[in-house]
Amino acid sequence: MSFNSADIAHIRQDYTFAALDESVTGEDPILFFQKWFGEALESKISEVNAMTLATVDSSNQPHARIVLLKGLNDGAFSFFTNYDSSKGNDIANNSKVSLLFFWKELERQVRISGIAVKLSAAENDEYFHSRPEGSKIGAWASPQSRKIEGRHIIEQNVLHFEQKFSGVAMQRPEHWGGYKVVPHTIEFWQGRASRLHDRIQFTIQQDGNWTRCRLAP
Ligand SMILES: Cc1cc2nc3c(=O)[nH]c(=O)nc-3n(C[C@H](O)[C@H](O)[C@H](O)COP(=O)(O)O)c2cc1C
Repeated sequence: MSFNSADIAHIRQDYTFAALDESVTGEDPILFFQKWFGEALESKISEVNAMTLATVDSSNQPHARIVLLKGLNDGAFSFFTNYDSSKGNDIANNSKVSLLFFWKELERQVRISGIAVKLSAAENDEYFHSRPEGSKIGAWASPQSRKIEGRHIIEQNVLHFEQKFSGVAMQRPEHWGGYKVVPHTIEFWQGRASRLHDRIQFTIQQDGNWTRCRLAP
């Protein structure tokens, strides 16, 4: 099917699924995130834990990509990756990051800004060893974000590490692990009719308490 840019401009959807106000969000954005995440799970949304992670490189160029939320502990959002990847290098240079969830079936968006902190070796080991064998080999086999000559490089690496770890316990590669994003701002967005959406934003204070405000759509 072919299309032109005028076709794109005419794609339009009105949002009427729900409303959002302060009586619903309460005063704790972590509790409210858990509530919305639970509703997204119940709605059988595919890839419900997929989130866009935005980082900034050393020339102040932002980069965004999807990663999977793997935990929400003590109010911090965690994901796993390759510490030597582009995102890992960005975070080493600038730990300010942003996370974004879009649950389109519920007409909801959640924006999170915060600081990325590496998880401990023990936390990394625990999650690494819970992964399927193929994913563990993949962590060894992929020099994530590096240029490679072709797919055959990855296939050779997989064979190499399968043989290396055949019959022996597989360690976690040092370059593979997680980050937790400690949030300082969380915004909940609920689509409404005529683009007059509801936006409730929480910002953390010095004392660790959250303040809440409504933003214009
Ligand atoms: C649905 C989905 C889930 C993904 N989950 C992860 C993940 O949890 N960790 C990860 O490192 N990359 C994940 N990726 C791949 C990243 O989007 C990205 O391609 C990769 O991390 C390299 O990014 P970088 O070169 O900017 O570091 C996922 C991609 C998609 C589409």
